[in-house]
Amino acid sequence: MTESPRPLERLVNSDAGSDHVPLEINTDEVSIARIYDFALGGKDNFAVDRAAAEAMMAVVPETMLLAKANRHFLRQAVRYLVGEAGIRQLLDIGSGLPTAGNVHEIAQEIAPETRVVYVDNDPIVLAHGRALLATNDRTAFLHADLRDPDAIFSHPDTVRLIDQSQPFAVLLGGVLMHLEDEEDPWAVAAGIRDRLPSGGYLLVSNTCDDGEPRAQALNQVFAEKGMGSRCFRTWDEQVRFFDGLELVEPGLVPHNQWRAGPDMPEPDNPVHSMHIGGVGRKP
Ligand SMILES: C[S@@+](CC[C@H](N)C(=O)[O-])C[C@H]1O[C@@H](n2cnc3c(N)ncnc32)[C@H](O)[C@@H]1O
Repeated sequence: MTESPRPLERLVNSDAGSDHVPLEINTDEVSIARIYDFALGGKDNFAVDRAAAEAMMAVVPETMLLAKANRHFLRQAVRYLVGEAGIRQLLDIGSGLPTAGNVHEIAQEIAPETRVVYVDNDPIVLAHGRALLATNDRTAFLHADLRDPDAIFSHPDTVRLIDQSQPFAVLLGGVLMHLEDEEDPWAVAAGIRDRLPSGGYLLVSNTCDDGEPRAQALNQVFAEKGMGSRCFRTWDEQVRFFDGLELVEPGLVPHNQWRAGPDMPEPDNPVHSMHIGGVGRKP
C-alpha cells in the first residue's frame, strides 16, 4: 500500500522545487488531491483533474462549493479544537495539498506550541507538502496511507510530535469517503478511535447522500472518475464513524450548520446538505 521511501525521497529532493512534473506523478489519471485543489481555486492540478471537475459540475453545478464548505468546516473545527477544547496535538490524515489556511497555520495562530503531523498517500502532496506544510519544527509531513495506521502511528515523526498518551485529535477531512465498503472504513475509524486517549477527538467529514437524486448522480460521476464508488454515504452510515464518542454540538451536520463563520461560502445554498461533518470526543 505505501511506497518505499527511497524513490519518493528522491522525488522530493530532486523535483519538488522545480517546475517540471516529477516522474512518479501520473498526469493522465485524476488525483483526488488535485481535483480538490482545483475546487479550492489552487493551481496544482492538471487537465485531467479539471475535466473530472467539469464532469461533476455538469451534474451538480455547485459541486465545487462542497469542497469550499468542507474546508471552511475544517478550519472552524481546528479553531474549536485548539481554541476551545485545548488540544495541542493534531494528526491530519488525508491532508490534501497546501492551501490557504493550512491546519498548522490556523492552530499555531491560536497556540504556537501546537504540533501538527500531516499524512497523505498522494505523491503530489508529498512533493508540495513537505516544503509548504512542514514549515517549522512543530510540524511534519508523512507519505502514508490511512489504511495502514501502524505506519502512521509508529512513524518517528508522529512519535516525536504527538504524545499518544495525552489527548490529541485526528482529522479525517474528506478521506473516509474514498474508501470502498470492502476496505471497511468503519473498522478504519474504529482503529483510530481505539488509539485515542480519553479526552482525544476525532473529526470526520464526507460527502453525503442526502436522499436527493442528484447526490446519487454525483456519486456516479465520482465513481466513474476513479475517486471511489461510495463517496456519498448516508448520514446513518456516517454517524457510525463516531461510535463510542460524544459528538460535540451541533453533532454530525452539513457544514453550513457546524459553527459556521462569516466567511462560510453561500451559507444558504441547498447543496450544503450533500457534505457533512462532525467532531467526537472520547469520554
Ligand atoms: C478531499 S481531500 C481533503 C483534504 C483535507 N483533509 C480537507 O478536508 O480539506 C482528500 C485527501 O485524502 C487523500 N487520501 C485519499 N485516500 C487516502 C488514503 N487511503 N490515505 C491517505 N490519504 C488519502 C487524498 O490524496 C486527498 O489529498
